[in-house]
Parts: sequence; C-alpha cells; structure tokens
Amino acid sequence: MCSIKHFLSLKDLSKEEILRIVHLGIEIKNRFLQGQRIQPYFKDKTLAMIFEKSSTRTRVSFEVGAYQLGGNAIFLSNKDIQLGRGEIIKDTSRVISSMVDMIMIRTFEHQRLEEFARYSSVPVINGLSDDFHPTQLMADYITMVECGIGVESDFYAPYANNKSMQKPIVCYIGDGNNMAHSWLMLASKLGFELNIATPKGFEVQESILKLALDSAKESGAKISISNDPKVAALKANVITTDTWISMGQESQKEERVSKFKGFCVDSDLMNLGDNAIFLHCLPAYRGYEVSDEVMESSQSKIFIEAENRLHAHKGIMTFLEEENWKK
Ligand code: CP
Ligand code: NVA
Repeated sequence: MCSIKHFLSLKDLSKEEILRIVHLGIEIKNRFLQGQRIQPYFKDKTLAMIFEKSSTRTRVSFEVGAYQLGGNAIFLSNKDIQLGRGEIIKDTSRVISSMVDMIMIRTFEHQRLEEFARYSSVPVINGLSDDFHPTQLMADYITMVECGIGVESDFYAPYANNKSMQKPIVCYIGDGNNMAHSWLMLASKLGFELNIATPKGFEVQESILKLALDSAKESGAKISISNDPKVAALKANVITTDTWISMGQESQKEERVSKFKGFCVDSDLMNLGDNAIFLHCLPAYRGYEVSDEVMESSQSKIFIEAENRLHAHKGIMTFLEEENWKK
C-alpha cells in the first residue's frame, strides 16, 4: 500500500517527474490534435472523482480525459455519497479504491487528502485542497512552454514552434492561498524565479515557504515575497493571480475585498512586466483580482490554460499508470 505513487502535491515529486508529466501532457495534446483521439493508457479503467467543493474545469477535464484515454469516470459529489453524511475517510477510501483504478478528490484540509491516499489501494490525485492545486500548475506550465517560456530550453523548443525559450520570471499577485503555494512548489522544484506579492496578513503559509526555500537551494530557484505588487511585477514574463475569496471563505468577502485594494492585475501592472503573458486558474472575478481589460487582452492566455487542463490531466493519469504498474 505504502509504495503507491500518488499526485497530492508537487512537493512530493522530483523535477524529473514533474517534467515527465509536462512532456506527456504536451505529447498527448499534440497527438490528440492530429486526430489520435483514443490512447490505450487507461483502457477499460475507471476514475472516481470525488468533489467536496464545486468545480467546472477540473470536473469536465478529468471526466473527458479519462474517456479520451480509453476509460471512464464517475462523478461523486459529497451530496451523493455517504462521505457527506459522516462516513469516515479511511472507510470511504478503502471501499472506493477496491472498485476503481484511480481516484481524484477535491476537498478542504490537505490532511484529509493525505489520509484518503494512505488508505487507498489505487493512486489518488489532488483535484484541489485548501493548501495546494497541483493539477492546475501542470496546465499552467504547459501553457508557458507553448508561449516559449520554460526551463530546459532545448528540450522544449520544438513544443514552442522552435521559439527561443525564455527563462520563467513569474509574478503572482494576490492571496497567499493554494495557488500561491502551488507556484512556490513548481518554481522551487524546477528552479525558476518567482516573485509573490500579497496584502499584509494574507501571506503564504510559513511552513510551505520554508519547504520551497529549502528546495530552492538545490534547484537554484529565486523566490521573493513582498507586499508590493509593482515591485513583484517588474520584468516578469508571466503575471498571474487568483480569486481573493477561495471556496470556503465566502463569509470573509467584505473584509477581503477591502484589504486587497491595490492588488488588482490591471493594464498598468501588466505594463511593468516584460511583455508578460497573463494566467489565471479561473473562475475569475473581473474588477476584483483582475480587470476585464487584462482578461480580454492579447496577453491573456486563460482559455488556452483552461483547455490545457484536459491534456495535463491525461498526462498525470498516464504518469501514474506508468509509475504504479510498470513495475
Ligand atoms: N481552475 C479550477 O480548478 O477550476 P474549477 O474550480 O472550475 O475546477
Ligand atoms: N483558490 C481558489 C482556486 C479555485 C480553482 C479556491 O480554492 O477556491
């Protein structure tokens, strides 16, 4: 049981493993666009998708992805299964994993997900927890590579139409939440520059920052944390943000909206970057964390990014199949 490879956070993966997933995602996307729709990797297998929070992109992309890999998916919201009525995690995990081949779960505390994985006899994927959103980062990185921004330049150049690849300088503006933590993990594993600006009192978690800084010592990543969006945006080639009110924080809306003033990604902020692309995991709240103008600008890659969830997730599922069953 303990030796199962899961996909819970990028902190648990090596640089090589992360790049393998990216590579698989891009390869599968390119083959798919050439009309090779069904891949054998997940043939006749079943993905269970457990959602304790809402979702548009994660739900659709995992469900369609499982079909495109030759398998199928079942959607289980906590309103439908006994987990929502108090059946405990370890029982739910042992039961569901005895019937399916892979499980994706979107939940609240990250520890819930870790407990689920501990009792599962099949690989578990984090479809978002309060602390991390790693599947999103795989799609974000694929989008960067396609725009000619990435580490390992020579390797990726063919995927970016042989554009000369720029080293990532990523700026994250906004809440120190699961997306900010996931960017910390990606930058520190792959070794690129990440400048985060949050309002005072909404910084990233110290323990997660420490993990990233430890990992950055090895990878050469340059990480800075401040409360100044203008400094963070300077010379960035990727500028990204996320909602100020994550799922579960709805009651804090008024307080957050007032404390996040000055952290909206607008055209003035985008202009501080170096011809930066704009990314957002979506859903976006225009007029709050990002202006309508930036969302609709040519620098915005948000819909390619959203579509890349589909291909990234096929990459993640294929990676887990390779890792767990090739032995
Ligand atoms: N970005 C993202 O995870 O979107 P959903 O909440 O719609 O799945
Ligand atoms: N930080 C957001 C991401 C949504 C995809 C949330 O957790 O609600």
